[in-house]
Amino acid sequence: MKLKPVTIVGAVAVAALAASVLTLAPAIASDKSAVTADPSTQTLRELSARHGLHLGTAVDLAALSDADDPQYRSLVASQFSTVTAENVMKWDALEPTRGTYNWGPADELVAFAQKNGQRVRGHVLVWHSQIPTWLTQGVEDGTITKDELRDLLKKHITDVVTHFKGKIWQWDVVNEAATDPWDSPSNIHYKGFWAENLGPEYVADSFRWARAADSKALLFYNDYNIEAFGDGGETDKTTFVYNMVKQLRADGVPIDGVGSQGHLGTQYGNYDALQASAALKRFTDLGLATAFTEVDVRSEMTEEVKAGTSSEVNPRLQASAANYSALLQACLSNRHCLSFTVWGFTDKYSWIPNWSEDKEGLANIYDENYQPKRAYNMMRADLAFSGPPSVQPRIAQKPKR
Ligand code: G3I
Repeated sequence: MKLKPVTIVGAVAVAALAASVLTLAPAIASDKSAVTADPSTQTLRELSARHGLHLGTAVDLAALSDADDPQYRSLVASQFSTVTAENVMKWDALEPTRGTYNWGPADELVAFAQKNGQRVRGHVLVWHSQIPTWLTQGVEDGTITKDELRDLLKKHITDVVTHFKGKIWQWDVVNEAATDPWDSPSNIHYKGFWAENLGPEYVADSFRWARAADSKALLFYNDYNIEAFGDGGETDKTTFVYNMVKQLRADGVPIDGVGSQGHLGTQYGNYDALQASAALKRFTDLGLATAFTEVDVRSEMTEEVKAGTSSEVNPRLQASAANYSALLQACLSNRHCLSFTVWGFTDKYSWIPNWSEDKEGLANIYDENYQPKRAYNMMRADLAFSGPPSVQPRIAQKPKR
């Protein structure tokens, strides 16, 4: 039989690969260098680096600069390889008075990240929440017209992206543009200040303006409750977001990724890793990157939980850990899932108790005293035991004589 040259090359390559696998297999088993450090002594940052995955946290700037709390600072630096500003890059923080920027705290975070070899997720350029009063008030009393509002949004995006140009890895360009099924009407639609005043076109415009200001940053759409697909119908938020980003790509809008926030609660029926992985795949099949951007898993704080009753606390810690793990495994399953960010790492500074009036809590991976919780160890185990070098190909067992 006459083989085509390309087939011969292929056959030779396959034979060579088979030979090298055969000769390598025993070598791997006995190679001391493949024996890794004990995962229980390694940080999230070290363990995730094996996968080229960036493990991040949202950072509370007040805590970071609190001289009385050095542990916060040292854990941000040692455990994480990317940081997100929890609040200080939002519009109301950057431009509390029209025309006067307050870059200080955000610059401080960027400098901290640079010093510690960390990447920065920029959060957030366009969101209906935490926008300055001068802007909302101006629109309400008619002193800011719709045309002027569009110009102001363009100026905001341009100024902020230009200020941080070259220092931001991923920008959350547009955040939470879609309603939830419990809103009225229940079919998912565009919501909030920007859609109401500028129409849904503000989404595409924002990505174009961001790209014009920085040609290298990755530009993300970011939202919550999109960890898994639902029934694909009108009340399925993930499907709405999927259709939106697909259309943006089709229209040539420069969007690079979808951020799935990952705010979960143990009192809900959450997702398993396969469901979350399937969702990531649908987004990445569009040519987009993904990231988990704000992961935390809260629990209801009953009186027994507040009193520390272990039979009430333990199931919550366990369930919280399982949810962190499901999202992390999903991210590990997809090579386009670039980063996994927790929304704060310690219960000491969590947004959850404030927001829920103390009805919910225990959402983070360290407790209020910086003791790592079950979720922290489960994440480390996922990172350690999900591929080489800790997990190697199986070694066949020969029947004993
Ligand atoms: O800065 C003021 C302070 O001067 C004042 O004394 C204090 C009194 O309440 O409020 C402070 O502002 C608070 C701000 O956080 C900074 O701490 C706001 O009240 C509070 O509402 C705000 O909450 C933030 C929330 O976004 C706003 O919607 C949370 O810290 C922050 O974690 C949260 O983050 C969002 C993401 O950006 C988007 N996705 C959802 C996520 C959770 O809601």
